[in-house]
Amino acid sequence: LPVQGGNVVAEFGVSELWDPAVRRDPHGFYDRVRDSGGPVLQIDPAGNPFWVIAGHADVLEGLRHPAIGHEVHRHSPGSWQPALHELSEVARIEARQLINLDPPDHTRLRGLVSGGFTARAVARLEPWIGDLADRLVARARQHGRIDGIADLADPVPVNVIAELVGIPESDRPRFRAWSAAIVSASIDGPAATMEFGAYLDELAARRRAVPADDLISQLVTLEEQGDRLDRDELVALVQLLLVAGQETTVDMIVNGIRLLLTHPEQWQALRDDPSLAAAVVEETLRFRGPVEIVPPRFTFEDVEIAGGRIPAYDRVGLSLWGANRDPAVFERPHVFDIHRTDVRKHIAFGHGIHFCLGAHLARLESRIMFERIAQQLPGLRLAADPTDLDGFRLHQDGLPLEV
Ligand code: HEM
Repeated sequence: LPVQGGNVVAEFGVSELWDPAVRRDPHGFYDRVRDSGGPVLQIDPAGNPFWVIAGHADVLEGLRHPAIGHEVHRHSPGSWQPALHELSEVARIEARQLINLDPPDHTRLRGLVSGGFTARAVARLEPWIGDLADRLVARARQHGRIDGIADLADPVPVNVIAELVGIPESDRPRFRAWSAAIVSASIDGPAATMEFGAYLDELAARRRAVPADDLISQLVTLEEQGDRLDRDELVALVQLLLVAGQETTVDMIVNGIRLLLTHPEQWQALRDDPSLAAAVVEETLRFRGPVEIVPPRFTFEDVEIAGGRIPAYDRVGLSLWGANRDPAVFERPHVFDIHRTDVRKHIAFGHGIHFCLGAHLARLESRIMFERIAQQLPGLRLAADPTDLDGFRLHQDGLPLEV
């Protein structure tokens, strides 16, 4: 294995990051990566090099670095990454997603859609999300014993995205089914992408004829003002909202609940003062954010970073979990504390040009859920031994709760 500059290899197993013991508690691994004085080489399950970076300042540098990005085919013609025209329709749509693009395409697309996701634009959804949260909480109260994932967290983001995009009520069962297939990346995923694409074409045509107060109308109107969003880009965007917004937000809500219920004084503080819900959101994002490592990037040339050197065209893993527990930035980083004053330095929504487009929306949804749960389910408690939740992985295990 190549060992270059300050890169530490010998002290780490080559694929430790995927080791089941490290999976159960990756924070110790990221502490060691941060302390090692270089990016750490790991070999991913496909056998490719994967350079892990875990210090707060180094992750920020990686996220801003002009020679670290996604579109390798632009920098290395003939590389393993195929050009767009060589891809199938489904793969092309995925490659056209904002999250997989570099400037200049990223800049253009993000400029077209960002207006729909400002704090002001999403604030108009607050009453609607409040009603949804009230309904979920009321149903949970009737049941007594519930699953925090299926009964509280899971229905929130998909319904909010449907409302935001402007999917008519009558089409929502179909939308939820496509969404589930797309998000789970199941065998039905590509078929769902095609069906959903055809459905969106139809909906876009209707909204072009008679615009409504929704995102899809905004996007098709833009299309007509010279600054164009083409058909694949429109489908790719709505699909990305589902992929990027569903599991992350579910994970956020369910981990906030789990952390509160395993820290009884802080759960009590929130019940006494539900306005602390915003602080619970931020500390949950810092302490156990939904995104462990941002979607992998590639170096476009040899890059000096984090005290070492990464060769051209290798894969880079920038760890948000590592950054958000960096003792150089956060006091007592491994302690969950909703009263901490340094929490806003967390980068759970990323940083730079790909900073989460849905951050305002995700904060709004989870803040409302935590408020409603504290106000209306004050007796909530875990129905499982908290030690059994240590290796807790979303969607594999539920979160059994008693109301
Ligand atoms: C990007 C986290 C919820 C839409 C990102 C990125 C992170 C992130 C870390 C940056 C990825 C990168 O740098 O490659 C989260 C977390 C969420 C959340 C922690 C919930 C707590 C949402 C929601 C939506 C959304 C609800 C939309 C409805 C997006 C989009 C991008 C993105 C479209 C790509 C932006 C771009 O590439 O310019 N998110 N996200 N996210 N997120 Fe979120």
